[in-house]
Amino acid sequence: MSAHNQQVILKSRPKEMISISDFALKQAAIPKAADGQVVIQSLYITVDPYLRDRMSGNALQIGLFELNEPINGAVIGKVVESKHPGFKSGDIVIGHLEWADYSMTEGENLSKLDPLQKPISTAVGILGMPGMTAYFGLLDIGKPKAGETVVVSAAAGAVGSAVGQMAKIKGCHVVGITGSDEKIAYLLKECGFDAAVNYKKKDYVEQLNKACSKGVDIYFDNVGGQVSDPLFNLLNLYARIPLCGQISQYNKSSSEMGPRILWPLLSKSALIKGFFVDDYKKQYPQAIREMAQWIKEGKLKYREQVVAGIENLPKAFVGLFKGENIGKQLVKIAD
Ligand SMILES: NC(=O)c1ccc[n+]([C@@H]2O[C@H](COP(=O)([O-])OP(=O)(O)OC[C@H]3O[C@@H](n4cnc5c(N)ncnc54)[C@H](OP(=O)(O)O)[C@@H]3O)[C@@H](O)[C@H]2O)c1
Repeated sequence: MSAHNQQVILKSRPKEMISISDFALKQAAIPKAADGQVVIQSLYITVDPYLRDRMSGNALQIGLFELNEPINGAVIGKVVESKHPGFKSGDIVIGHLEWADYSMTEGENLSKLDPLQKPISTAVGILGMPGMTAYFGLLDIGKPKAGETVVVSAAAGAVGSAVGQMAKIKGCHVVGITGSDEKIAYLLKECGFDAAVNYKKKDYVEQLNKACSKGVDIYFDNVGGQVSDPLFNLLNLYARIPLCGQISQYNKSSSEMGPRILWPLLSKSALIKGFFVDDYKKQYPQAIREMAQWIKEGKLKYREQVVAGIENLPKAFVGLFKGENIGKQLVKIAD
């Protein structure tokens, strides 16, 4: 056990673009377990875009983080001390815990992971929250049919890369929208997308129109804003839009105004539906089984981008909003 417990705290509320200077490292004592409690050493901490809203957004559903207190989110860790009947030292667990080397919990929302069954990091990636988001957003709301055109934005990220590959499994023509040539190559060569376009290029709309020559049946929106605006003119009759994320807006102090989309939606009898993946929690086991099988068969690939060291958590988090990650961004805290 390391003798230190460093925590990552929120030092200031970002007004617009989040910066690493909004965070600080704080030295704390390693917690001791009292009756009913478990002390966990963090192994992997995941950074997820939704946490941005808890730093200075509306955070209506889950509440704002306190200033000068540790951030919290999904953490994979090892039990190092337990006075809880359900857990013993050495158990590998996932829970909602602090961004810290060590944290303490009474076991609420803590589940055991079996490292022999699957790599533990997948519990916050392809077989965790982002993978579930891709699965239910695409299959339950998008309802893809063979031959249809599916477009996904933030396509090279944790959610987007899974959406596109699952749409390929369902026999669709898949177009990814992303922000670099390296990511385009990843989507075409590793993820099997049919086409990918770079929204940062001047001819973005032209390229998008070309890639979607038969129109768009499903637009899985992770980004919103100007990246998504041109999609509304490409919708086919009965198109579906799973509204998953609006990452282009998370660092803005007020939402941008866009084109009026209701007429294109009405004229195409299109469905647009926002969703939160938590609403599907009861159905996760079935989705995990099916996705694990696709991974085993080589039909679904995933990439994890791992940086080491708790001091790199702020940079990894901020990097999500600068497009620095390919696949799921993780921070390794300990072995
Ligand atoms: N509804 C739900 O329950 C739910 C659950 C999980 C995630 N989500 C949402 O799903 C989306 C993807 O999440 P993720 O965890 O998979 O993240 P991710 O895609 O792995 O990482 C974020 C990516 O977003 C892109 N991006 C960042 N800022 C952008 C901007 N201003 N304009 C356009 N693209 C931008 C970047 O890729 P580029 O290089 O391509 O720009 C970046 O790599 C997020 O919007 C997130 O909030 C929703």
